[in-house]
Amino acid sequence: MPETATRAEEPASRHALVVGASGLLGPHLIDRLSASPGWRVTTLSRRAAGPDDGACPHLSADLLDAERLVRLAPKLAPVTHVFFGSRALGEGYRIDHDANVAMLANLLAVLEVARGAPKHIQLMHGLKWYGFNLASAKIPGRESDPPARQASFYAPQRELLIGLAERNGWTWSTIRPHLVCGVATESPSNIVSVIGTFAAILKALGEPLWFPGPEASFDAVLNVTDVDLLTEAMEWAATEPRCAGEDFNILNGDCFRWRDVWPAVAAAFGMKAAGARGVKLAAFMADKAPLWQRIVAENGLVASPLAAMGDWDFADASFAVAWHQVAAVTKAHRFGFTAMVDSEEMLLSYLRAYRERRLLP
Ligand SMILES: NC(=O)c1ccc[n+]([C@@H]2O[C@H](COP(=O)([O-])OP(=O)(O)OC[C@H]3O[C@@H](n4cnc5c(N)ncnc54)[C@H](OP(=O)(O)O)[C@@H]3O)[C@@H](O)[C@H]2O)c1
Repeated sequence: MPETATRAEEPASRHALVVGASGLLGPHLIDRLSASPGWRVTTLSRRAAGPDDGACPHLSADLLDAERLVRLAPKLAPVTHVFFGSRALGEGYRIDHDANVAMLANLLAVLEVARGAPKHIQLMHGLKWYGFNLASAKIPGRESDPPARQASFYAPQRELLIGLAERNGWTWSTIRPHLVCGVATESPSNIVSVIGTFAAILKALGEPLWFPGPEASFDAVLNVTDVDLLTEAMEWAATEPRCAGEDFNILNGDCFRWRDVWPAVAAAFGMKAAGARGVKLAAFMADKAPLWQRIVAENGLVASPLAAMGDWDFADASFAVAWHQVAAVTKAHRFGFTAMVDSEEMLLSYLRAYRERRLLP
């Protein structure tokens, strides 16, 4: 009997709620869980995550609207696993810490009312836990390190969850990736899309592929996370009993410098690589929308506005980090998650995927 037939007949014993269904991470997690045996999937965000064909019912809800959210309680009763990947972003890649804590608090309040099945709640966090976004920090970041509290909303979210989990008999885990890489059309804070679109613009201008950040950032060591590796780790951490009450750095497992991968990225676009220029992309891209539309038309690309291809404030924040950003993955390995990805191969393969889908020239 074909494997798919066996899977279809298995009763779904796990019911996931994917919160943050429409961003970069959400659609990939939905795909993974939908293809895994034993899962039912419900999704939640303001926008839909794709066609609601009944396979994965979608709850369209604003997590900041506590009053309306509470009406969802009956629908959340059967949920067994909550994957919380929502993030409130303001103009200019401004992350409002209070709003992000409020979104989680509002959802957890509904889950308390909903009761029903016992629940595991997993928070998607990141290396901002260690404060790499603000200043040079200890290398490698380890899960037991105290949080850089001013750098993110992660510590207050985690404290809130731990308190409520104890009261309600829930289990929990948190996951810390960095610069998540994948193909997404709904999330401009995506480093692969940013690099590919930037390269296409420079190529059309007849320029080599220069690095937008400063020299020190070109030379700083970092690690990143493949979205497929990330969703595999999320499913593992949410279902492996030993992972309950634990935090995990989830990264590709290697490190690199932008300087060392830049020639291969340039070659992928048939361009020459150049050095660091320290140019702010938010300013550089401000007048490039007409050029992007021309690139789209001339290459028969899927139409998408320049702003949907890249959040240039996110790009500036990412390329401005002039110190190393490295965290250890030894804890996840010790607990049994040993998957790894070659970051340079991954970047090139996702850039190819963008081109194959006619999202980039
Ligand atoms: N991208 C990265 O490189 C990266 C790196 C490290 C950690 N992370 C973490 O990973 C998580 C997911 O990242 P991502 O890149 O997938 O983010 P994203 O693309 O910005 O997606 C954010 C999600 O949050 C939802 N959301 C925002 N405000 C909401 C609201 N008021 N009510 C309901 N839903 C709301 C959005 O849906 P709607 O707008 O449709 O509501 C969207 O589905 C975040 O917690 C982020 O901090 C990301």
